[in-house]
Amino acid sequence: MELIDGKATAARIRGELRERAAKLTAQGIQPGLAVVLLGEDPASRSYVTAKEKACGELGLYSRDIRKPAETSEEELLCLIDELNGDPAIHGILVQLPLPSHINSDRVIERIIPTKDVDGFHPVSVGKMMLGQETFLPCTPHGIVKLLEEKNIETSGAEIVVVGRSNIVGKPIANMLLQKTRPGNATVTVCHTGTKSLKEHTLRADIIIAAAGRAGTITADMVREGAVIIDVGVNRVPDDTKKRGYRLVGDVDFEAVKEKSSFITPVPGGVGPMTITMLLYNTVLSAERVLAGRG
Ligand code: GUN
Repeated sequence: MELIDGKATAARIRGELRERAAKLTAQGIQPGLAVVLLGEDPASRSYVTAKEKACGELGLYSRDIRKPAETSEEELLCLIDELNGDPAIHGILVQLPLPSHINSDRVIERIIPTKDVDGFHPVSVGKMMLGQETFLPCTPHGIVKLLEEKNIETSGAEIVVVGRSNIVGKPIANMLLQKTRPGNATVTVCHTGTKSLKEHTLRADIIIAAAGRAGTITADMVREGAVIIDVGVNRVPDDTKKRGYRLVGDVDFEAVKEKSSFITPVPGGVGPMTITMLLYNTVLSAERVLAGRG
């Protein structure tokens, strides 16, 4: 069994991005990311803080816009219009989930696709499905990079994705079925409507667990030698921890690791790749501007 070290891969890619960002800055285009957060949700706040810190470390410009939860949709849409037209900003990220009085679809659709570094805009999603050049969503893109890093063959592989979210399940399934490499896999997407999850996972060469529920994948559901990618981030109560909980994935790690050929830990697997690919998209966006394609 080999552990897939997301922190190491993230660090390597960030090193490359730092150089690309420095080159762009020397040519007068410092890549800039705007992060918009409404409200005080602690998990969202810590994600946003991590994004800003990562931008600083890579020499990216970051604009941190924090607004109260009561901010109106109209005000948020105006802010996006402003950022769409701001030449210092190459990527716009609106942290989800948004407060319930705001229509997230309308907000995402307002972001100009050339600055949609989350890859959530319908234009980005459509281009991804068609295999056209676009911004790929960060978590699925990070998963693909980890598979590439470990030379894990996807062509012809049976890949079972567990979970059908717009952020992970649906896009990773689409990316892996593209004919180009890495991809060309036979992809099955399982979800809460699947009759026998185990029947599917036992056939898998690669399992991508993105259900958002601890204990979704147990050892009896995994065949010997399978590759396990665990996207889950679940808090389980733990009195031995100062904060009162610990983070676990969707996979029963201790038992499943014995059967797997490769496995991602939680934390330290897929997680560190997500922000890295956000920075990747922001640098790419600035490079497109320099090339006159922004
Ligand atoms: N909330 C949880 N994950 C994400 C993400 O990747 N992007 C945004 N914008 N919000 C999120």
